[in-house]
Amino acid sequence: MKPFFVKGGKVRLRKKPWIETAMDEVRDKTLFDNGLETMKGHWQELFPDKSLTLEIGCGKGKFIIGMAELHPEKAFIAVEFQHDIAFYPARKALEKKLNNVRVLLADAQGILEWFEEGEIKELYLNFSDPWPKARHAKRRLTHRRFLEMYRKLLGKGGKLRFKTDNRGLFDFSMEEFAAVGAKVLRYSTDLHNSNIDNEVQTEYEERFSAKGNKICFAEVEF
Ligand SMILES: C[S@@+](CC[C@H](N)C(=O)[O-])C[C@H]1O[C@@H](n2cnc3c(N)ncnc32)[C@H](O)[C@@H]1O
Repeated sequence: MKPFFVKGGKVRLRKKPWIETAMDEVRDKTLFDNGLETMKGHWQELFPDKSLTLEIGCGKGKFIIGMAELHPEKAFIAVEFQHDIAFYPARKALEKKLNNVRVLLADAQGILEWFEEGEIKELYLNFSDPWPKARHAKRRLTHRRFLEMYRKLLGKGGKLRFKTDNRGLFDFSMEEFAAVGAKVLRYSTDLHNSNIDNEVQTEYEERFSAKGNKICFAEVEF
C-alpha cells in the first residue's frame, strides 16, 4: 500500500484501491484540501441564509447527516482527513439529496486558511482521537493550540460542543478550556443520564455507550 500526503506533510495510510473511483461519484458533496483557501469568507454564498456549522473528524458521518436532516435551516461542513472514511458521509448526503452538507477531505490543522474569523457559528468535536501518550498531547484536537484556532474560527458567541467517552481526554480538555479562558456553559460526565439535549448519537457514541461507557459532554464559548 502506498502512503499519500496531505497538507502539513502528514502521512495518511489506509488508502484503498477502490477509493479513487468512489470519490469521483461523490464529487458534488466533497471539497478537497487544495483550493479550500478560495472558499475563505465565501461559505455563506454556498449556503445562503443558513447558519454555518462545522464538525472536525466526522468519521462515517452518522452525526453530521442526522443533524443536517433535523436542521435544514443550518449548513453542515464536515472535516475528515481519511479518504476511505470521508467517502461515506459524502455518499449519504448525495443519497439523501441533502443540500446543506459538504465534506472537506483535509487536515483540520488548516482551518484558519479555509474560514474567515467568525465565519462558523457552531463547532462539534465528537470522540476525537485521545492520543493518550503525554508526548502526543499537542495532537489532541482540544489542545490549546487548536482552541486558539477555534476562538478565531467561531468569533464572539460561537459555540464549541465536545463529546467523548474517554475520561482522561475529557479532564484534559476541561483544563485546556480553563487555560485559554474559554467559558464552559454546560457539561456532564454522564450525558445520557443528564437533562442536556443530545439530538444525534455518533457511531462511536453508540458503540461505546452500548459497552456501558459513560459519555462526557461540554459546551464552550470563547
Ligand atoms: C475516533 S474517530 C470518531 C468519528 C466520529 N466523530 C464519531 O464520533 O463516530 C475520529 C475521526 O477523526 C478523524 N480525524 C482525526 N484527526 C483529524 C484531523 N486533524 N483532521 C481531520 N480529521 C481528523 C479521524 O480520521 C477519524 O475518522
